[in-house]
Amino acid sequence: MAQIFQNQKHTIITILLFTLVIQAQYSHQFSKKLSPKSLGLKKQKLTHLHFYYHDIRTTSPPHVVQVAEAATTNTSKTGFGGVSVLDGPLTVGPELTSKIVGRAQGMTASADLNDFGFLFIINYIFTDSKYNGSTLSVLGRNQVLFPVREMPIVGGSGVFRFARGYVLTNTRFFNVSSGDGAFEYNVYVLHY
Ligand SMILES: *[C@@H]1O[C@H](CO)[C@@H](O)[C@H](O)[C@H]1NC(C)=O
Ligand SMILES: *[C@@H]1O[C@H](CO)[C@@H](O)[C@H](O)[C@H]1NC(C)=O
Ligand SMILES: *[C@@H]1O[C@H](CO)[C@@H](O)[C@H](O)[C@H]1NC(C)=O
Repeated sequence: MAQIFQNQKHTIITILLFTLVIQAQYSHQFSKKLSPKSLGLKKQKLTHLHFYYHDIRTTSPPHVVQVAEAATTNTSKTGFGGVSVLDGPLTVGPELTSKIVGRAQGMTASADLNDFGFLFIINYIFTDSKYNGSTLSVLGRNQVLFPVREMPIVGGSGVFRFARGYVLTNTRFFNVSSGDGAFEYNVYVLHY
């Protein structure tokens, strides 16, 4: 009898311990406060990046493809409703042959009935030095005919976690007949 009790006690203790381990593994805590240090976040930094984006349509495959349009896009003076997807190189100098530091990938949509105003949703994926694998996400309005356009940085990854800031872009070169272009970017980003 005592032996059976001993065995049962053993089993109960084992089950209790097991339950505690399971509970620790499958925490039901939805939220908790963390210190920024626990994520390795120290002082906030301001970084300036400078590069060129190349939008080449005359290459195969092209860097930009129109993927959608409305029945009225062709007759709209601003191409309203046209949606394009792009994936083009970022270089350190204005020439396409200069060192590649990343790529821009995303979507643009003609979103203004009256002026050339594009919705830009672009990820900048960096491949150089300590930025390799880190990204910045930009979401904004690009008035392509303006000399300088400003768009907000809405976030980032890798070294750019918790990023915010803005980009300034201008057209360095644009070939109206082919649609090929090179655009200069000045990026101002706060991150840790
Ligand atoms: C718009 O123009 C393009 C190029 O000329 C053509 O391929 C497309 O079919 C046109 N779309 C409509 C909806 O008319
Ligand atoms: C960037 O990272 C990728 C993947 O880890 C690696 O293959 C590549 O060599 C790296 N490039 C540079 C320039 O460090
Ligand atoms: C502009 O594009 C057209 C058509 O592809 C090409 O013939 C011309 O050489 C280009 N101009 C420049 C300055 O690159």
